[in-house]
Amino acid sequence: MKLNIALLAGDGIGPEVIDQAVKVSNAIAKKFNHEISWSPALTGAAAIDAVGEPYPDETHEVCASADAVLFGAIGHPRFDNDPSAKVRPEQGLLKMRQKLGLFANVRPTFTFPSLIDKSPLKRERIEGTDLIILRELTGGIYFGERGRKDDGNTAFDTMTYQRFEIERLAKKGFEMALKRSKKLCCVDKANVLESSRLWRETVQAMEKDYPEVEVSYEFIDAVAMRLVQWPKDYDVIITANLFGDILTDEASVIAGSMGLMPSSSVGSKVSLYEPIHGSYPQAAGKDIANPLATVLSAAMLFEDMDLNAEAQAIRDVVNKSLAEGIVTEDLAEGGKAYKTSEVGDWLAKNI
Ligand code: IPM
Ligand code: MG
Repeated sequence: MKLNIALLAGDGIGPEVIDQAVKVSNAIAKKFNHEISWSPALTGAAAIDAVGEPYPDETHEVCASADAVLFGAIGHPRFDNDPSAKVRPEQGLLKMRQKLGLFANVRPTFTFPSLIDKSPLKRERIEGTDLIILRELTGGIYFGERGRKDDGNTAFDTMTYQRFEIERLAKKGFEMALKRSKKLCCVDKANVLESSRLWRETVQAMEKDYPEVEVSYEFIDAVAMRLVQWPKDYDVIITANLFGDILTDEASVIAGSMGLMPSSSVGSKVSLYEPIHGSYPQAAGKDIANPLATVLSAAMLFEDMDLNAEAQAIRDVVNKSLAEGIVTEDLAEGGKAYKTSEVGDWLAKNI
């Protein structure tokens, strides 16, 4: 197969982890006889520095005409500490999600056999966890009206949802649940928020179309507690943008490290693959960041192209590296810590 993949390294550790995913993907292409052409493009603070905005039109063209987008990370502390900054790297990510129509963010949570004891959670609670958080990605409070009142001392952000936005996300959730253990949990705050009541109403109305799926409704605060207590109770979770942002960071604790969790963002057109972690500026340029989340995001990319053996080969080699202790410092725990690039080289060589 011929694949044209847009490559958005972004900021901080983005370029380093992306390099490893490229090495691994190229090794897969060689082994399985595919041809990958990579189309690099600017995004984030790197793009602000170069052309004054975080998701330039040229980058959008590159993404829109690619078969898939592989994305590193976005964000720079220079902007975090300056609340008055007019242009922020994160705006690039949001603009990209919106312009590419990536309304559903798929964030799987699973455990790695050799890492179970690295999680702060008890083995018996987490072993065998296999759930997916399906986060709405182009609506809600991230995109609602926001601003300051005249006096400057009052600020507001608005959580707005339209029925069609909930329906298209929920449809993906139901379809995903059908292929898995047929359990769907809608997570909201319907005891307080009107937008959450619309979520419930919409999902309830769809239940009749999926009689095989067992649907439950839970409040976000309760799930924040139950998810780390009883992760195996969950299969597919659908939730609003901000709730999903928070829950997926929490869920990464189950796997043992943020540096492990991949994601895909899908819509009607091209899909995007990215680690769930951020740009980790403290580690940028040091060759110490864990590249596995990005490498596993590449596996999700291959899987979505129906290249299942390729995806499995990546997962297998990642498991092998973990079992053999070829890991970066976040997972080394007193043992030898390998460099980001060394882990990438090892993975590519062992494919
Ligand atoms: C994520 C990140 C982003 C988000 C930030 C960087 C804007 O936390 O992808 O989860 O909040 O969506
Ligand atoms: Mg987040």
